[in-house]
Amino acid sequence: MRGSPKTVVITGGTSGIGRQAVLDFARSGAVVYAVGRSAERCAAVERQLCSEVPGAPIKFLTADLSQQAQVRRLADQLKYELRASGRPLDGLVNNAGLYASRRTNTVDGIELTFAVNHLAPFLLTQLLLPLLTQSTAGRVITLSSYAHYTTLLDVQRVASPPFYLGLWAYKSSKLANVLFSMELDRRFQGSSARAFALDPGLVNTGIAGKGTDPLTRLIWYFKRRQGTPPSVPVQTLLHLVYSPQIQENPAVYWRDLHPKKPDRQALRVDLALSLWRRSCELCALPLE
Ligand SMILES: NC(=O)c1ccc[n+]([C@@H]2O[C@H](COP(=O)([O-])OP(=O)(O)OC[C@H]3O[C@@H](n4cnc5c(N)ncnc54)[C@H](OP(=O)(O)O)[C@@H]3O)[C@@H](O)[C@H]2O)c1
Repeated sequence: MRGSPKTVVITGGTSGIGRQAVLDFARSGAVVYAVGRSAERCAAVERQLCSEVPGAPIKFLTADLSQQAQVRRLADQLKYELRASGRPLDGLVNNAGLYASRRTNTVDGIELTFAVNHLAPFLLTQLLLPLLTQSTAGRVITLSSYAHYTTLLDVQRVASPPFYLGLWAYKSSKLANVLFSMELDRRFQGSSARAFALDPGLVNTGIAGKGTDPLTRLIWYFKRRQGTPPSVPVQTLLHLVYSPQIQENPAVYWRDLHPKKPDRQALRVDLALSLWRRSCELCALPLE
């Protein structure tokens, strides 16, 4: 255990990087609330992880993060759980994400990739802010990607784009993750909370093999073999949550335990601010 026990929420805890993060945070002594979209998978993974770390305080909650009503319900459940335990929230790991080769709209009428990869973490973070700012060192870490380089984000049209290309939608959503983290970190200035975007590198997970077209699945089948195991990026997650020195380090974008310069689009304060405002509108949150 590193220092005092932390309480963390990890979305996308049923597979890949998120599942490994739940395991490694539990091993570090943290109290872990994990989120998955399927009740059956949540129950199965909770059983597996609790047998790997006997007695570990791991609890899975179910929410389909493509639906804003479910994100709100999840936030209410987490608030209830944490208030009942008398603990602040030390870490929120916005990890859940997807790659969709075909266009789908959510029940809220928003393009799925943008809804799950950006709007869900945006909304969940806003709703949990009161708990995060009660911690002596609240951390919001959002999984981004090297895919955010060399892309553009049309803030006004991204929720309902005129044409759809899976790779472009994924790249835009990952740029949104960095812009969101930069703006959130600016808003945290003067408090003890921090926001980070994590680039996990290429990781051997099933992300592009779920519900994608046969060509995407074939490419990913070979590409993922060159990836690292999920335990590699989880080391950086642990570092960002536990290292006391992080507070003094101004960097927001991290990879392999080190700060990294994000794409120049991600450094645009005007773009981050307009994404923030548009996200508030799309989530029916008051404009700030
Ligand atoms: N793998 C890489 O090389 C790589 C590279 C750069 C960035 N990333 C980022 O890392 C993060 C984790 O990806 P991964 O590679 O670990 O993929 P993964 O194994 O597919 O894990 C993604 C997680 O998100 C969950 N999820 C997907 N849609 C959801 C929804 N609508 N509601 C709730 N949960 C949902 C998945 O649930 P199920 O288990 O039910 O599918 C799963 O638990 C993503 O944000 C991804 O963009 C990954």
